[in-house]
Amino acid sequence: MSKLLVTHCVCHAISLEEVKEISEKEGFTTIEELQVAEVCSTNCKMCKPYVELMLESGRTAFEPGEYLKSISE
Ligand code: FES
Repeated sequence: MSKLLVTHCVCHAISLEEVKEISEKEGFTTIEELQVAEVCSTNCKMCKPYVELMLESGRTAFEPGEYLKSISE
């Protein structure tokens, strides 16, 4: 098991915990709403599948590549 977890949108220098708090406060439920508000996921978009998982699950830390498991299920 990897000790390194995905916990941030690096390009926006914001943690998924902070993105979650903003989403709850603003009522954002989609990645598009977060992108329009320029909260996260507008540059390299490497974080995008993790932010989507955060929106679905409420979790804020993920194994690298974890989103691929939900795609293959
Ligand atoms: S890590 Fe989120 S846009 Fe680059």
